[in-house]
Amino acid sequence: MTQPDLFGESFARDGVAILRGFARADDVALVAAIDAIAAVAPFRHMSVPGGGRMSVAMTNAGTGWVADTRGYRYSPVDPLSGRDWPDLPPVFVDLAERAARVAGFEFLPDGCLINRYEPGAKMGLHQDINEGDYSAPIVSVSLGLPATFQFGGLKRSDPVEKIGLHHGDVVVWGGPARKAFHGVLTLKAGHHAIGGHRYNLTFRKVL
Ligand code: SIN
Ligand code: FE2
Repeated sequence: MTQPDLFGESFARDGVAILRGFARADDVALVAAIDAIAAVAPFRHMSVPGGGRMSVAMTNAGTGWVADTRGYRYSPVDPLSGRDWPDLPPVFVDLAERAARVAGFEFLPDGCLINRYEPGAKMGLHQDINEGDYSAPIVSVSLGLPATFQFGGLKRSDPVEKIGLHHGDVVVWGGPARKAFHGVLTLKAGHHAIGGHRYNLTFRKVL
């Protein structure tokens, strides 16, 4: 029996582009920038309104996304330090702009949520709907261990498609897909040159 090969499978949906390997050429600079951001604003497991903590560890650059027992919101300030999140590094902004352009969007991000998945971490189905500007797409960059991304419709109950995301893949969704439900299945353990984890950079236009 053949194993389903998620790498490079096709996915056709209005407003969604999967740019395979688009970020690979910048991977060393991207990981160095992540390390520099995390040295100032460390990865942390944020609390969520229902109680408990997220299995994904997060930090931010630019305008930051934060969760706590009161809800979800954007904040210029890191609640751990009381200081502004680190600025968006030029290598981040340049990559996000280029990826959006290839996908047909004009885009200048002002925030980047940085997710770190250790094996066992996952992200449930959700919509990105705390931003102020839905005409801008979401640009999502995967680095490190592969993950299975779930992409659904505008209703939580809509069917989801599974997409394998590998090191360097970039997904852009906007227009009619901007508020689509999406999530990430539990990360499997593995080895990768950048370490035994997965990073995801999610670029948004928040303000
Ligand atoms: C997210 O929706 O914030 C993360 C998506 C991903 O990790 O690929
Ligand atoms: Fe998201």
